Amino acid sequence: MCCDIKRRFLLLYATQKGQAKAIAEEICQQADAHGFEADIHCITESDKYNLVTEKDPLVIVISTTGTGDPPDTACKFVKEIKNKTLPPDHFAHLRYGLLGLGDSEYMFFCNGGKIVDKRLQELGAQHFHETGLADDCVGLEIVVEPWIDGLWLALRREFTSRNIKEDMSNNLRAVSNGVSAMTVDPSMSGACSLDSEIQHLKLEDLEVKVTDTLSQRPANVHSVVSVQNTEPSLDRSVPPLSKSTLNIPALPSEYIDVQFQDSIDQELSVSSLISDGTVFHVPVTKAVQLSREDAVKTALLLELDISKTTFCYQPGDAFCVICPNNAREVQELLHLLGLSERKECFVCLKIKQATKKKGAAQPEHIPEGSTVEFILTWSLEIRAVPKKAFLRALVEYTSDAREKRRLQELCSKQGASDYNSFIRDPNICLLDLLHAFPTCRPPLNLLIEHLPKLQARSYSASSSNLFQPGKLQFVFNVVEFPSSPSRLVSRKGVCTGWLAELVEPMLQPHKNSLNAKEGKSSTVKVSIFARPINTFHLPSDPSVPFMMVGPGTGVSPFIGFLQHRQKLQEEHTDWKFGETWLFFGCRHQDRDYLFRDELRSFVENSTLTHLKVCFSRDPPAAAEKNPTKYVQDNIRLCAKEVARVLLKERGCFYVCGDAKHMAKDVNDTLVDILSTDAGVDKLEAMKILATLRQEKRYLQDVWA
Ligand SMILES: Cc1cc2nc3c(=O)[nH]c(=O)nc-3n(C[C@H](O)[C@H](O)[C@H](O)COP(=O)(O)OP(=O)(O)OC[C@H]3O[C@@H](n4cnc5c(N)ncnc54)[C@H](O)[C@@H]3O)c2cc1C
Ligand SMILES: Cc1cc2nc3c(=O)[nH]c(=O)nc-3n(C[C@H](O)[C@H](O)[C@H](O)COP(=O)(O)O)c2cc1C
Repeated sequence: MCCDIKRRFLLLYATQKGQAKAIAEEICQQADAHGFEADIHCITESDKYNLVTEKDPLVIVISTTGTGDPPDTACKFVKEIKNKTLPPDHFAHLRYGLLGLGDSEYMFFCNGGKIVDKRLQELGAQHFHETGLADDCVGLEIVVEPWIDGLWLALRREFTSRNIKEDMSNNLRAVSNGVSAMTVDPSMSGACSLDSEIQHLKLEDLEVKVTDTLSQRPANVHSVVSVQNTEPSLDRSVPPLSKSTLNIPALPSEYIDVQFQDSIDQELSVSSLISDGTVFHVPVTKAVQLSREDAVKTALLLELDISKTTFCYQPGDAFCVICPNNAREVQELLHLLGLSERKECFVCLKIKQATKKKGAAQPEHIPEGSTVEFILTWSLEIRAVPKKAFLRALVEYTSDAREKRRLQELCSKQGASDYNSFIRDPNICLLDLLHAFPTCRPPLNLLIEHLPKLQARSYSASSSNLFQPGKLQFVFNVVEFPSSPSRLVSRKGVCTGWLAELVEPMLQPHKNSLNAKEGKSSTVKVSIFARPINTFHLPSDPSVPFMMVGPGTGVSPFIGFLQHRQKLQEEHTDWKFGETWLFFGCRHQDRDYLFRDELRSFVENSTLTHLKVCFSRDPPAAAEKNPTKYVQDNIRLCAKEVARVLLKERGCFYVCGDAKHMAKDVNDTLVDILSTDAGVDKLEAMKILATLRQEKRYLQDVWA
């Protein structure tokens, strides 16, 4: 390294699921090699940085969640910078670069980043590096990698200009003091070499080792020679990549020391996983399959008994379920890592004294007193798609030269397209890698350092506490990932697969959920906790009309709304109640029309004024004049009523379910309806919708 003094910049990240954090850590990792020092913090750690007094450049990596919202960890920060009393030069001293993460299939692409970027600008801060908006839909790295490359150049320019300014003012001062030496710091000429950042690997470097080890390899592993004319795959490359010189990331500095201790007979509770909230272990009292056996997706309804807890909720609230990784996968992982014998050992974690990792800290999601098996079951998302830094680290724990080379290719610049095709797109996880690269055997600390926290999954309540006191119901589709050429086993979603297996012995077949029997005192329990922010609620004034759009499992919170409404109507016969609309859709009338009987009875007792249903895969009935496939088709047919309810009667519009396609299509339909009705162009109609959103009259509860 030619520069002795590292130039500091402040690096803040705001993440919901860990990607922004991983990217910030990658920046931090690379910074060292470029002669910079990243002072990295989660944006919530406001005691560790102060933007008002910050003098060094600022870099922010921020993702988007919900419907164009900043991650939960950024809420406080955003609230603070949005304070209207702040003067327009509040951040005039700040020079920053921002990388937003998002997914262009969502309605508000990278909106979390855009909100922060716009507000920093309004408060006088200036860019030293142009804003990057990375799209998870096509691969974050397409933007992230060049953005990071550009960052080093921009930082170098930024520090150079700062130093020139400083020198000039020093010289001016010196001149005014009668001294006439004008100097420019040579280190600011931009010539700081990038010596340690990249390792250039040539195939020739490996060839000796490859031939050395080929004779010891199992017969089913292809040699470099034998693959030359075949298709590439996860563990196999073809020219030109197999022949090319590689630029691979610098080796991430390990920072955790793992020590194993014999366990004493003491079981750790999953409550210890949640530091800032109360966890409730509640019995499952009912499990009903809502879809027919031949439906494309299996929809299950679970009922939890919360009567002996202080857990409370409103219809429309979502809550979180703590779920474990698949037990078979955990056992397989323990076996492949050579940890089966030690699975019950306590794991004692310490930060490595000699680590070069900046801000190395004990991971908060691994409670003290965890065993090896507990960590792999409850703390780490073992299904996470390995990042390139993880692949790079795995190279060091792979003994076979050909496997090493392929891992290097997959994390290299030249292998970016192979990484997408064979790792990112097919959602390859660590277990798949260990199968494909049998001589790779990473130690436990590497998993703790590189795998993200296993997140609790959110579910929307589909019941009303008024209608069914002491009960909490929710509905989900069992997520299924079919096998593929890269992975021969099919898998189920972590949480939905686990829940489906857990309740299998008590599962009641396809029937009306309310008539389903309550199980005898159930021993099946799940751990839940409240979601901190919920805004998807019924209008407080019952006379306000509202429309609900919930295809598939998106209907779930609306069942809670309607149950609540029915009870209110029964209890308050003198109140005025506004009209209610539900747009529901599914594939087949007979297979996956969830809550059909309940919805009919809501219509019969006038809780639901209008029910509009469509079936996307059933042939249209011969007599049907306007056949509809999707919820947005029915909304369009009711355009006049939609405009009346929203614009004239100041009603509310709720959308729940698939965030990517349905919510976007419904939004586009609303824009069309409002623009036609109000006689304005689309931009104006979008502004009307934005106002409705601000007034909390257009509410979305959408998920991926
Ligand atoms: C506020 C909120 C409310 C919600 N309410 C509900 C609800 O009421 N009902 C409901 O069903 N869901 C709801 N969800 C979604 C729910 O939280 C879970 O995301 C969903 O149930 C899937 O969880 P899982 O652990 O089973 O799947 P995971 O294992 O987390 O897999 C889900 C995703 O991972 C990816 N993935 C992983 N492996 C593969 C692979 N091999 N191939 C392809 N893709 C893969 C895919 O993107 C897939 O969609 C809600 C989400 C939020 C944020
Ligand atoms: C529930 C959910 C909601 C999302 N909402 C949006 C959104 O409104 N706009 C967007 O651009 N991306 C959205 N995304 C995509 C994420 O921002 C993107 O996947 C990002 O890489 C996640 O980074 P993180 O792991 O740091 O949170 C959403 C993702 C999820 C899971």
